[in-house]
Amino acid sequence: MTVIIKVDPARPDEDALERAAEVIRRGGLVAFPTETVYGLGASALNPRAALKIFEAKGRPPDNPLIIHISDMSMLDVVAKDVPEAAFRLARRFWPGPLTLILKRSPQVPPEVTGGLDTVAVRMPAHPVALGLISKSGVPIAAPSANVSGRPSPTRAEHVIRDLYSKVDMIIDAGETLYGIESTIVDVLRNPPVLLRPGAFPVELIEEELGVKIEVPSFARGLGEAERALAPGTKYRHYAPSTPLVLVESGSYSSSADLARLTERVAGLVRELGAVGTVCVVASSETAPAYERLAARVFVVGSRANPFEVAKRLFDVLRRLDDEGCSVAIAEGFEERGLGLAIMNRLRKASVKRVLA
Ligand code: TXA
Ligand code: MG
Repeated sequence: MTVIIKVDPARPDEDALERAAEVIRRGGLVAFPTETVYGLGASALNPRAALKIFEAKGRPPDNPLIIHISDMSMLDVVAKDVPEAAFRLARRFWPGPLTLILKRSPQVPPEVTGGLDTVAVRMPAHPVALGLISKSGVPIAAPSANVSGRPSPTRAEHVIRDLYSKVDMIIDAGETLYGIESTIVDVLRNPPVLLRPGAFPVELIEEELGVKIEVPSFARGLGEAERALAPGTKYRHYAPSTPLVLVESGSYSSSADLARLTERVAGLVRELGAVGTVCVVASSETAPAYERLAARVFVVGSRANPFEVAKRLFDVLRRLDDEGCSVAIAEGFEERGLGLAIMNRLRKASVKRVLA
């Protein structure tokens, strides 16, 4: 049976958190909000509990989990030989949407890390997540709380849709702040390597460490990585069931660039019309260009506000399935700042990419 409890995201009820912590201590599964997306949590020190996460999500066992901690003393429990650069980042940016790859401590069972001798760690900036971890008294392993391959959950309704009856408890604290996952950086390498762009801007890490971070093409959503470096990249991710075509442009800055983009999208709408209901994922600036076409338009936000686009992206991807689209076409966005994470998710969600 799945218990759903509603809490205030800013001041969660202590008794509710205590009940959830009890589930974690007993080796159960609790879905909970973080500032990025909802996570599916279990004790990171209990191999049997961790295995339940893989089972509930249908996640391949070699795709490792992120461990969530609530204070710096927990860092020593999950990682060893933490490099100075990692301490600097942790001191300045935790709690926050930044995940660091560190050496695994022997206390973390290999089930959690997909057999790797490294571990992904972050301290989430959400009162519910922090309260749950500290009341549990153990670090919590938690991937995003979606069925493997589906768009990550940004609201409790998404979690209920994917995991109801497969988990012990779902904590509903409304919509998450960023709506896109944490940024993952491998600080064991020099220079550090970006493994997954996310809610935390890489530029801030570069400023703190005074080095340029390496951004491999797989971090941009182009191609796969070597398994040992970034085990998650070989799997399809964030994808709606509706086949999605992504239309990219070399540049999105001038009105001529955007006109070329919308013309290419409109051409595809006409071509694909025979398939059934065509849906378009567009920015508020370009959406008016599709008014007269036989297409349903989903506005994901303004190009001037990538924060809004990132926050609404997964919800829009889920709506493509829920609202009967036969095929969907998404506009690309500029790959800068949060745009790096937006384009990574769109490329991974799409079955095909075309150039405008
Ligand atoms: O914002 C987030 O990071 C959310 C919330 C719940 O914290 N979590 C999340 O977890 O996005 P998940 O499992 O959906 O993504 C974790 C990613 C995977 O791509 C996995 O391959 C990578 O982290 N990862 C975990 N441990 C790793 C390791 N030791 N080395 C390299 N990559 C690792
Ligand atoms: Mg995920």
